[in-house]
Amino acid sequence: MLQKSTKARVLLLAQAATILVFGGVSAASAFGPSSPEERAAARAERAAAEARRAEAAEAQVTPAVAEAEADDADADTAEAEAEGDATEDAAEEELVEQTIYDGVFTAEQAEVGKAVYTANCASCHANSMRGGPGGKRIIASVINTKYADLPLSAYFGFMQSAMPPGQEGSLTDKEYIDTLAYILQTHGAEPGDQELTADYEKLDYIIMGRKPAEEPAEQ
Ligand code: HEC
Repeated sequence: MLQKSTKARVLLLAQAATILVFGGVSAASAFGPSSPEERAAARAERAAAEARRAEAAEAQVTPAVAEAEADDADADTAEAEAEGDATEDAAEEELVEQTIYDGVFTAEQAEVGKAVYTANCASCHANSMRGGPGGKRIIASVINTKYADLPLSAYFGFMQSAMPPGQEGSLTDKEYIDTLAYILQTHGAEPGDQELTADYEKLDYIIMGRKPAEEPAEQ
């Protein structure tokens, strides 16, 4: 009994912390930190918040025990355990930073994405994606320069929340992500074995980067 209520209290604390952390993270990551260190720090923070949110969601399943009294020493122990679990969960993911040139989407996705792009985007951005009557260029220098050091999550976030104008978010996650695969392929990235998914945590680890051949020579 004592154990259970202690856990519930800790989880409520965790929930409060999650709200604070999420508020901070989402505000800061709108257009993303751009150094590898900043990106790593942002990801670590997000992973910890994610773990705390999962714990908090569990807490809501057992609200009846929330009001019970608990010993402070026990609470500290349980909190330390909760922290430990969160760290383990974050470590289990083992996400490694990649670039869009590492075969991060499949040829099938790009194929499906081509149809989605043609139907929903080409009228403004042109089949070439280099700009047209109603919209600007979305590949080439846009990816090589504007988004060069940003993760795919920044580009995908813009697509999903602002495109097509006036019908933002009108496509399914899969339609948006397949369209992104086709955009990357048209830009010059090769498909591979990896399936691109609309999981922002994973997209955070795929840096748009510069096409390896276009890397400026070291001085
Ligand atoms: C009605 C015309 C129109 C359609 C249709 C449209 N776009 Fe756009 N798109 C624009 C305009 C205009 C901008 C510039 C908006 C801005 O900078 O705020 C833009 C910007 C973008 C950008 C950002 C480029 C940058 O420099 O950051 C991306 C990526 C993009 N569009 C992708 C898409 C995709 C994918 C679709 C289809 C799902 C689509 N757009 C459909 C007009 C359109």
